[in-house]
Amino acid sequence: MAISKTLVDELEKRRAIALEGGGADKAAARHAKGRLTARERLMALYSPGTFQEFGLHALHNTRHFGMENKPIPADGVIVGTGFVDGRPVAGFSQDFTVAGGSLGEIHARKICHTLDHAVKAGIPVVGFQDSGGARIQEGVGALSAYGQVFYRNVQLSGVVPQIAVIAGPCAGGAAYSPALMDFVIMTRENAQMFICGPEVIRAVTGQSTTVDEIGSAQVHASVSGNIHFIAESDDHAVAIAHRLLSFLPSNNMSDPPHTIEPDLSIDDDPGFDDLLPADSKTPFDVREVILRLSDGGDFMEVMADFAANIVIGFGRIGGVVVGYVANQPLVKAGTLDIDASDKAARFVRFCNIFNIPLVTLVDVPGFLPGVMEERRGIIRHGAKMLFAYASATVPKITVILRKAYGGAYLAMCSQDMGADRVLAWPSAEIAVMGAEGAVSILYNKELAQAEDRQARARELADDYRAEFASPYLSAGMLFVSDIIQPRQTRSAVALTLRGLLSKRETRPPKKHGNIPL
Ligand code: HXC
Repeated sequence: MAISKTLVDELEKRRAIALEGGGADKAAARHAKGRLTARERLMALYSPGTFQEFGLHALHNTRHFGMENKPIPADGVIVGTGFVDGRPVAGFSQDFTVAGGSLGEIHARKICHTLDHAVKAGIPVVGFQDSGGARIQEGVGALSAYGQVFYRNVQLSGVVPQIAVIAGPCAGGAAYSPALMDFVIMTRENAQMFICGPEVIRAVTGQSTTVDEIGSAQVHASVSGNIHFIAESDDHAVAIAHRLLSFLPSNNMSDPPHTIEPDLSIDDDPGFDDLLPADSKTPFDVREVILRLSDGGDFMEVMADFAANIVIGFGRIGGVVVGYVANQPLVKAGTLDIDASDKAARFVRFCNIFNIPLVTLVDVPGFLPGVMEERRGIIRHGAKMLFAYASATVPKITVILRKAYGGAYLAMCSQDMGADRVLAWPSAEIAVMGAEGAVSILYNKELAQAEDRQARARELADDYRAEFASPYLSAGMLFVSDIIQPRQTRSAVALTLRGLLSKRETRPPKKHGNIPL
C-alpha cells in the first residue's frame, strides 16, 4: 500500500515552512550584504547531496513575552552531518533570520545532539555561530542550555577536532563555545565577538570604546589571539575550514590524512643553502625554510597575525602531515615572549592529541627580556612550552638553524625535552646564553679596564661563539643527533618522519598533567 498523498503533502508543507527560515526577505537582505544564509553555509561546507539534516521539525520552548504561539522554524539552528572530501563531518549553523539565531533550550539541544553524534561517530565538528546569544525570553533556561553546549565542547576536546566559524554576532557568554573549540575562523566583515559590549564597558568603567575596538576579526586575530584565521567572506571561511580539515584526522584514535608514496628517496635541495644571510645577526623569514620543507610549498599558517615572532601551521613532508613550530627572526629577533609561548604551546598540544608529528625549527636568542614580560608572568607562560613539548608523545624532530640559547633552546624541543631527533645546520650556535651576554658577565672586570671596550667585547664574543657555541660541541655530547648541510634537510626530515610513524611512547597513567595556565 502506497503512502497516502495527504501524509506526503503534510510532510512537504511542514518541510517548506521550516526550510524558509526567517523568510525570503531576510534571506535577500543577507545576500545583498554578500552573506550566505545559515543553510547555504552548510551547503557550501558539504559535498553536494551529502547533507543529512536532523531536527528540522524542532519546536521551540519559549513560553513568555507572547512567544508561545509564534513560530521559530527549526528553533533557529540547522544541524546534521555531511561529507567533506569523502569524510563525514558534523555541523551546525545558527540562523540569524530566525529570532536572531538566539539560543533557547531546543536550539541548544540540537547543537548538543550534533556534538554527541560527533563524539560517537568519531568525526570533526564545524559550527557556524551567528546569534544574538541566550534567548532572553527563555531566561535562565537559555543560560543552562549554553552550559550544556560548553560542557560538551569540553567533553569533545581532545577526542574530535572542533572548528568554529564566527559569521555574525557572538556576544556575551556565547563567545565561550568557540573559545573552547580547537580553531576559530572569523569573517572580517559582519562578525563581532565580545564578552561585554561597549555600553556595558562604559557603564561599569567609564571607558568609551567601539565594537570594532574590542570585537572585530582584526583585533581578535592580531591583539587578543582569540581567533586563528580571518576570512574575507562566508565562502572563504568554508574554504579555510576545508583546508584545515585536509590536515586533520577524524578523531584522536586515527592518523591524520598522510599521503605517503612508497618511494623513499628525496633529492637534496640546494635552494636551502642560500636561505640564511651571511651575518648571523641579520634576520630572515623562517617561512622560506618551511615552504621549502613542505611538499609542493604547501603550508597552512595558523594565527599568522598574532605573536608573529613564532610561526605555527600545517604542511606535509614526504606525504606525512606535520605541525611546524618555528622561531621567526623577522619579529622581535625570534625571541619567545608570553604570547608566542601561549600560541606555540597550545598548538603543540593540539598536534599531540591528533597524532600529528611535530617539526620544530630553531633560531632563538632567548626569552624576551623586559620588565613587563617578567611582571606578566613569562615564567608561567614560557613553562607552557616546556610542558607541552615534554608531554607530547608524537614524533618530534628539531632542526637547529642558527641560535639556540638558554632556556629557549630547551623550550624549542631540545633532545632533553623529548625530541626524537635533533638535527643542526653547521651555522647552529647552541649555548647556555648568547655570546654578548655571557662575555659581559664573564669578563666584567676586564672589559671595565679595556681601552676600547666595544672592540674587546666583540673579540671575546667571537671567541665564545667559536669555543662554546659550536654545534660540534653539542654533537660531541650527543645533544645533537647529526649536523647536516641545509640542502639535506628535507630528505633527512622526511626519512626520519617515516621511520617514526609507528612510534609508541607510554607514560604512567594519570588524570591529566597540571600545565601552568
Ligand atoms: C531573543 C533576540 C536576541 C536574544 C536578537 N534577538 N538577540 N531575541 N534573544 N538574545 C532578536 C531581536 O529581537 C530581533 O527580533 C531579531 O533577533 C534581530 O535582532 P536585531 O536587533 O533586529 O538585529 P541587529 O540590529 O542586527 O542586532 C543584532 C544584535 C542585537 C547586535 C545581536 O540583536 C543584540 O544586541 N542582541 C542582544 C545581544 C545580547 O546582549 N546578547 C546577550 C544575551 S545574554 P525581531 O522579532 O524584531 O526580528 C547571553 C548570556 C549567555 O547571551 C551566557 C552564556 C554563558
